Amino acid sequence: MTVETKYWPAEQSQAGLKEAAAVLAAGGVIAFPTETVYGLGGDARSSVAVKRIFAAKGRPSDNPLIVHLADREEVHTLAERINDVEQALMSAFWPGPLTLVLPVREGAVSKLVTAGLDTVAVRVPANELARQLIEQSGCPLAAPSANRSGRPSPTQARHVMEDLDGRIDGVLDGGATGVGLESTVVRVLEGKIYILRPGGITREQLQEAVGKTVEVIVAAEDRVQTEAPKMEIAFDSVAGRTEAPRSPGIKYTHYAPKGEMLLVIGQNRDKLIAFVQQQANEATLRGCRVAVLSCTEHVSRYQAEAVFDCGSMTTPIKAAQSLYANLRECDERGLDFIIAEGYPEEGIGAALMNRLRKASGGNEIIV
Ligand code: TXA
Ligand code: MG
Repeated sequence: MTVETKYWPAEQSQAGLKEAAAVLAAGGVIAFPTETVYGLGGDARSSVAVKRIFAAKGRPSDNPLIVHLADREEVHTLAERINDVEQALMSAFWPGPLTLVLPVREGAVSKLVTAGLDTVAVRVPANELARQLIEQSGCPLAAPSANRSGRPSPTQARHVMEDLDGRIDGVLDGGATGVGLESTVVRVLEGKIYILRPGGITREQLQEAVGKTVEVIVAAEDRVQTEAPKMEIAFDSVAGRTEAPRSPGIKYTHYAPKGEMLLVIGQNRDKLIAFVQQQANEATLRGCRVAVLSCTEHVSRYQAEAVFDCGSMTTPIKAAQSLYANLRECDERGLDFIIAEGYPEEGIGAALMNRLRKASGGNEIIV
């Protein structure tokens, strides 16, 4: 079924806000900016709205959604209980790009939101427009990233239109998003913080907020976990200790561009550049149209059909902001072999590398 998708430009965002909030209150679905990526929102209490979100994205129904609130105090309407560590995290990072997986209050949201789990993922976005929209709609907003499933997340309103025009009721344009990667998803269990998906709040920031006595563990990302023991197993299996990794295609193709992608990591600059250039040359000879996602320091040293400047090796923040837009541009221009340089995995670099790995389907070489 095709619907008319309204578009509210950034200059008219206040007028758009009113209309969009009314559509949400009536059970419609609207894409809106957050500080991370654009979300596709609907009333989390309405199964009709939530079904439309899943349908518009083509998202598997067993992957639960994040519920967005305007105000941190409202978390009690969704969560059954909050422990001290969770409280500390909310105080430190809300509003902001941190999502907490909490025990769900029975009946607070549609069972479709939580995919039938006994937990609900909650966050308070830092984007002012997002918070105003939630407040004016009067709904807790279930909102996954506003892309078709499997496509890079949208960091601009036009990315949303590319993927979802005709499938959703409207798009509120708030300009390009700031962080560029999704929120960090955490679960607190037995006093420990498990990072289920690295994102806008770094491991180092989490650790600093709770102090040395609380352990911060990088667990398997993008997995649905309900109990601590299972989480340990998932953690182990991802590290490849308890089972051989399954087909990378199954595990990693989340944020994939249409073309093939190769991630190259190396400490030695000259070696790294030489290897990337060689891969680019070989791919060109095979008839591929090649893009290199390069750090600023190396841009002038590459020859390929397209060389993207992703920002300095010392500022992965810039690379994070531009990654999804760059991948989309590769698709648009028909660039079908993308070689990306790896960044150091500190700070936001951890989330960046996580997304680069997913986008490349585990196709990774260390030189
Ligand atoms: O930055 C973001 O988080 C963006 C913006 C729009 O807020 N949203 C986003 O949503 O990235 P989505 O649906 O693309 O990713 C939600 C992640 C998924 O990995 C999902 O499995 C996980 O959160 N998740 C949701 N509910 C969960 C739950 N109850 N337990 C464990 N993981 C959960
Ligand atoms: Mg997503």
